[in-house]
Amino acid sequence: RAQMQAQSLALSDAMTQAAEYYKLQLRQAPAAIGYLKGRGLTGEIAARFALGYAPGGWDNLRSVFRDYDAPALVEAGLVIDRVDEEGHRNKRYDRFRERVMFPIRNTKGQVIAFGGRIMEQGEPKYLNSPETPLFSKGHELYGLFEARQAIRDAGYVLVTEGYMDVVALAQMGFPQAVATLGTACTTTHVQKLLRQTDNVIFSFDGDKAGRRAARRALEACLPHVSDNKTIKFLFLPAEHDPDSYIREFGAPAFEQQVHEAMPLSQFLLREVAADYDLSEPEGRARVQFDAKPMLQAMSPSALRLQIVRGLASMTQSSPGEIEALCELSKPVAE
Ligand code: CTP
Ligand code: MN
Ligand code: MN
Ligand code: MN
Ligand code: MN
Repeated sequence: RAQMQAQSLALSDAMTQAAEYYKLQLRQAPAAIGYLKGRGLTGEIAARFALGYAPGGWDNLRSVFRDYDAPALVEAGLVIDRVDEEGHRNKRYDRFRERVMFPIRNTKGQVIAFGGRIMEQGEPKYLNSPETPLFSKGHELYGLFEARQAIRDAGYVLVTEGYMDVVALAQMGFPQAVATLGTACTTTHVQKLLRQTDNVIFSFDGDKAGRRAARRALEACLPHVSDNKTIKFLFLPAEHDPDSYIREFGAPAFEQQVHEAMPLSQFLLREVAADYDLSEPEGRARVQFDAKPMLQAMSPSALRLQIVRGLASMTQSSPGEIEALCELSKPVAE
């Protein structure tokens, strides 16, 4: 365990040094500066998020670290060891090359991972740090360190999908935004968010992936639904994400979207009813069938009761009948 700690320290030092290096490189990279300016960002906001640039070249980090062969650099995900057919490691190279760098910080402000965006067309659009002892994707929220005070001031947090959503929203007057980084929103994410504030507003992309992400977020929220928390979902037009929307329509329009966000109860009822014909008994039964695991995931609360009532009237049943259905074949408690 002592060894573990010594190792994590080294990893964290490596990440800090790399972040400093990428930040300095950005100053000397007119193309990267141009790219960020072209996306509407000021130098001030780039500094706030400690944005950087990883230049082209296979081993630039050689100039940063005294020992480019140190195991910690692989463990930190900063370099990659190419392994030949015999399983021998040869040729080490920098993971991030020619990319705009977004450092991901933990709540203490330490850099634990990076996302690197390609500036032209190309794959992958974002290259991320792998899972490391410092970084577990399902647990971290991009921008949380930067947003903490703003979340307190605003009284709510905006949860988006992407790096640029967070940075652009901050630039446009919504510094209370974080991102799940394209992964599904997990119950760990939700717990983390609810530790910061009682009001969570999800604002995913308007595309299919974004709507799927909202559905997954809804499911991740269910165990945490309680009467002193408000969880809402904001749905943007299909071709937009928060970044593109606020650029095109402006901050007041986005504020209006926040204002009109859909409460969790309404979203849940809309989701379960979406695919079925409520005029038929079979359709109403399917709605109840789909709603059942969701209700089972929720602890007793006044809000849950409201949802049960909504479901009952939607499916021509009584709340008692819905509850009886939930009691049948309950999943085994975790
Ligand atoms: N993502 C990723 N790898 C990819 C694509 C996406 O890790 N190849 C993650 C990134 O965190 C990204 C988020 O998923 O920010 C949302 O993806 P997407 O909406 O496609 O990207 P945007 O954030 O909108 O990126 P941009 O505006 O820069 O095009
Ligand atoms: Mn070597
Ligand atoms: Mn998207
Ligand atoms: Mn975008
Ligand atoms: Mn997007």
